[in-house]
Amino acid sequence: MTAARTALVLGGNSDIALATLHRLADAGLDRVVLAARDVEALERRLETNPLPIAEVTIVAWDALDPTGHVPLVETAAEALGGIDLVLCAVGSLGHGAGIAATSASAASLFESNFSGPATALTDIAQYLVERGFGSIVVLSSVAALRPRRSNYLYGSAKAGLDAFALGLADAVAGSGVLVHVIRPGFVTSKMTTGLRPAPFATTPEAVADAIADALTSEKSRIVHVPRVLGPLFALLRITPRPIWRRIAGDR
Ligand SMILES: NC(=O)c1ccc[n+]([C@@H]2O[C@H](COP(=O)([O-])OP(=O)(O)OC[C@H]3O[C@@H](n4cnc5c(N)ncnc54)[C@H](OP(=O)(O)O)[C@@H]3O)[C@@H](O)[C@H]2O)c1
Repeated sequence: MTAARTALVLGGNSDIALATLHRLADAGLDRVVLAARDVEALERRLETNPLPIAEVTIVAWDALDPTGHVPLVETAAEALGGIDLVLCAVGSLGHGAGIAATSASAASLFESNFSGPATALTDIAQYLVERGFGSIVVLSSVAALRPRRSNYLYGSAKAGLDAFALGLADAVAGSGVLVHVIRPGFVTSKMTTGLRPAPFATTPEAVADAIADALTSEKSRIVHVPRVLGPLFALLRITPRPIWRRIAGDR
């Protein structure tokens, strides 16, 4: 796959997304649109830690507002002169939100982790297919493979996004568009601040390396970060429930 020169990032203030942009700048990425819900926070962050990318445009975008998706694609396509890569890094963990969640807080988690990004990617995929090439990278999670009692709202939403992305990859096969599904385990980022790292915890930079590697592929890929989580979760997802509950604990 030809290296991307331009990228649209959904969830532009994500630690993993920004680490990925640093990584992809080395490979020739030189124009990005960062779609973020808190533009000022992202501007402040980039002032102190700038991206090594020639043109950076920040656009206000909230995954909870589906009317913003089409305008975002239009704005990004114009600003970038064509979108080569879309990185979907929106997410909200809501750790501990479980049986005590309200329907309103559950809806917010489902929308920010599943329906918001999936509806945005629906518009984006149409744009890329019409253009005839491009890559979509979707940050899923191993939580999509087997939710825990502490995170089943997040995990079930991620399972929806993961299934959406896999189906989308098949739907666009042969169109010139690839969809890579990235399933990290625990990543030390602002999403997990204050939480005890899980076994095989990794970093935004390691996820960025895995994404950069996937982007060299000619086929849509499913990538676990670190890799060992692929075979491990193949086993864990069929582990009997009482044992799984003990392994997962309150983590
Ligand atoms: N960290 C982990 O352990 C881990 C593991 C597996 C998968 N992932 C996935 O990797 C992706 C990136 O996560 P990260 O670790 O980089 O965490 P992060 O830094 O917290 O990034 C998540 C981003 O999503 C944004 N966001 C949340 N709700 C939004 C909404 N309604 N509209 C627009 N943006 C919204 C956040 O905005 P604000 O900056 O304004 O909060 C934040 O920038 C997420 O999809 C996450 O689910 C993370």
